[in-house]
Amino acid sequence: MLTFAPLKRRKMFNNRIKIKELLAMEPAGQEVIVMGWVRSFRNNQFIALNDGSTNNNIQVVAGLGQFGDELLKRITTSASLKVTGTIVPSLGKGQKMDLNATTIEILGDSDAEKYPLQLKNRPTLEYLREKAHLRFRTNTFGSVFRVRHALAFAIHKFFNDKGFVYMHTPIITGSDAEGAGELFRVTTLPFDKTPRSEDGSVNFKEDFFGRATNLTVSGQLEGELGATAFGDIYTFGPTFRAENSNTTRHLAEFWMIEPEMAFYDLEDNMNLAEEFIKYIIKYAIDNNKEDLEFLAQRLADEEKQLPQDKRSEMGLMGKLEFVLNNDFERLTYTDAIDILKESNYNKKKKFQYGITGWGMDLQSEHERYLVEKHFKKPVILYNYPGAIKAFYMRQNDDGKTVAAMDILAPGIGEIVGGSQREERLDKLEARMKEMHIPIEEMWWYLDTRRFGTVPHAGFGLGFERMVQFVTGMTNIRDVIAFPRAPGSAEF
Ligand code: 4AD
Ligand code: MG
Repeated sequence: MLTFAPLKRRKMFNNRIKIKELLAMEPAGQEVIVMGWVRSFRNNQFIALNDGSTNNNIQVVAGLGQFGDELLKRITTSASLKVTGTIVPSLGKGQKMDLNATTIEILGDSDAEKYPLQLKNRPTLEYLREKAHLRFRTNTFGSVFRVRHALAFAIHKFFNDKGFVYMHTPIITGSDAEGAGELFRVTTLPFDKTPRSEDGSVNFKEDFFGRATNLTVSGQLEGELGATAFGDIYTFGPTFRAENSNTTRHLAEFWMIEPEMAFYDLEDNMNLAEEFIKYIIKYAIDNNKEDLEFLAQRLADEEKQLPQDKRSEMGLMGKLEFVLNNDFERLTYTDAIDILKESNYNKKKKFQYGITGWGMDLQSEHERYLVEKHFKKPVILYNYPGAIKAFYMRQNDDGKTVAAMDILAPGIGEIVGGSQREERLDKLEARMKEMHIPIEEMWWYLDTRRFGTVPHAGFGLGFERMVQFVTGMTNIRDVIAFPRAPGSAEF
């Protein structure tokens, strides 16, 4: 085993203990150094100090008469401090220990009058979105982003433990993987003197890459190139969609996890996706219980303002446990249409978009009906009509459907989209022609079907939707640090 000689401990600045670790100790007069930001200062004596490692603050006691007025005046909300002191069992209620300060050093002042996040009037989530640069300093966002971190870590652990290769697919690309055309163009061409071809169209040959390029909408196509060499790969990176959807579930920049597996069919794909989702939820419960319990309480408080029938039945923790302990419901698109058609909801015309019949694309209200009203658990829908799905999905023998699957989650709707891929060159080319996908430009993709093609499958999990599901945050803009959405790219 490799071992490293420890660095000789010289006198250094960062000799602090994190508050999370500190609060786990048994206080018996140990001397410690903490650094953090002031949450509140009571009676000119009690400082609630937070360093972001946990929502719990350490109560720093500035003994009466021990510190000058000049210093005490500077202990304001969000000022940053370095405190040296000893920890002792607390006499007060609500905390296990006090940190009796021997020295307090102000690292950075904070003008209390101007600080935008005073705790007095509890700021709304909407307000905090405008102060996204500071909102990490609140309990809600502290919890959300620690859970987000844990989920990201769990994702890497899950795939690493299974021997998947983490693959970095390009951000700038010439292809539109989903064929949906919702692309952000990447160009260095001047706007005022755009070079034109003879037919008047923009001449991208003169552009930086000598061709038209855009930000990627998905790493899947490149992922397939990896899977057909390594066997199992996954990507985990940012993806970009210029869809003009101002909803609580859409972002223009979001992170996606896309595993791609050789020698997998659709059922293998569904099995992996279900195991994966359960694994990362369990990881969060095992490692972030405190944050999740805080978020569960937050959600319960938020829902108190809703009418009874709009509140969630189980609460956040109950919902997560329920997902872990139950199989996802699996049914075909065709069966789903039948259920929807026969539903009282449809008969009473409660859907905004009526159920017109087989072949229609499902709206999120339909997906949510199936998940929240009918089955009351996550649902995997599979075998969709080919006409409403992407070109690369494997054509089923019925000549109508493709081996696609979507996973729908309560409160969110679609959280995963995936499929078995069409590995037969002739069928794939025919489909691409039908859908006007430029076959010549995709020569590299088609080469995998020419040289040792194999059955393979994969899926994409929308990371922010997953974080929403686990944290119970209703708006996707509250689970990514700096949301990008139509009309909004501040910070
Ligand atoms: O269903 P989608 O479009 O599938 C793909 O991109 C495939 N290439 C995935 C694959 O098979 N490798 O997107 C996958 C997931 C969706 O289920 C959703 O969770 C999320 O990505 N997603 C979005 N999340 C936030 N904002 C948006 N605008 C999103 N669009 C899709
Ligand atoms: Mg989809």
